[in-house]
Amino acid sequence: MNVDLYERIWMWSVGVMLALFFGSTAAAAIGHQVHPPSHIETIDPTKALTDARFRRQGVSVDATGRIHATIVGLMFAWLPGELTLPADTPVTFHMTSADVIHGYEIVRTDAQSMVIPGYVSQFTTRFAAGDYLVACNEYCGVGHHTMATRLHVVPRTAWKAPEASHGN
Ligand code: CUA
Repeated sequence: MNVDLYERIWMWSVGVMLALFFGSTAAAAIGHQVHPPSHIETIDPTKALTDARFRRQGVSVDATGRIHATIVGLMFAWLPGELTLPADTPVTFHMTSADVIHGYEIVRTDAQSMVIPGYVSQFTTRFAAGDYLVACNEYCGVGHHTMATRLHVVPRTAWKAPEASHGN
């Protein structure tokens, strides 16, 4: 097969570039243990709904008064269905998936995270009062577009802490 010299140069350059890109990605992932933010805590995804950390989904307050929102994503819903949180108060979200990768995005805020089976995603944020749409932003199957829920943020004085305390 006769390949033009310039074409051969380009083919080799592309090959070298691909090797560099894949190599640097692999080096970062393996050598420096780079992974999505906050995906440090692991969990058995087949037990996501029975694990002590996720058995009870929803809002809870721990012994120090911090507010936690525990959420499980699965095709094609977020559990629990809806959340009510106090405004202007830090809330720590703990999320995991029972099946495939989902994306927890509180629309029009900076709160979002990939939700990966086998890992616990976590972030802490606070909200202004209002109603927020929570959408799944990782394509997870035929019902992906229906995987949405609501987050109600009410003034602090109007918010009532749930009875149950945090599982941990
Ligand atoms: Cu869950 Cu898309």
